[in-house]
Amino acid sequence: MLKDIKEILITQEQLAARVDEMGKAITRDYLGKNLLMVSVLKGSVVFMADLMRAIEIPAGIDFMAVSSYGGGAKTSGVVKIVKDLDVKLEDCDLLLVEDILDSGMTLEYLKRVLSSRAPRSIRVAALLDKPERRQVDIRPDYVGFAIPDEFVVGYGLDYNEKYRNLPFVGALKPEVYAGI
Ligand code: IMP
Ligand code: MG
Repeated sequence: MLKDIKEILITQEQLAARVDEMGKAITRDYLGKNLLMVSVLKGSVVFMADLMRAIEIPAGIDFMAVSSYGGGAKTSGVVKIVKDLDVKLEDCDLLLVEDILDSGMTLEYLKRVLSSRAPRSIRVAALLDKPERRQVDIRPDYVGFAIPDEFVVGYGLDYNEKYRNLPFVGALKPEVYAGI
């Protein structure tokens, strides 16, 4: 796996420190609320697992899966719910946990669908943000790192289901995904 990585953008130590800070901010903001963290599978599982342990108030968790990329490195613009939530959202303060905000289309769609189920509030925590790539007007409430427009893998993020278990965030060598 390592031979496919051009450069490490965010180290394990930087990830741990930043996720800890995000957890502290969320802890403060959600005191007295009914926090439900919803992880968007699969890319956000590593972030979710670390973030939930950095939060010091009770937090429910649930998972959703959507497809928007069809496996490649470019967006298809099509978002489909592949796995829906198990819990009802009324009375919940929903925090959507995403690995990366790219075009923003996935989150825009999810926010719209989930708002219609009447949670008390909806916010978004994204580990990574590529603001240059945004196609819709959506901003995460909590961001780990803003990164340049480069395809990244690791810490949950994949390319064709590979590299999710790298402990850092790295940029792939272009020749790895050439031809897409
Ligand atoms: P959006 O709808 O364009 O914002 O796409 C968000 C989804 O695209 C993320 O949840 C990722 O699964 C995927 N994605 C976007 N950029 C990257 C990247 O650089 N590496 C890996 N996955 C990415
Ligand atoms: Mg994803």
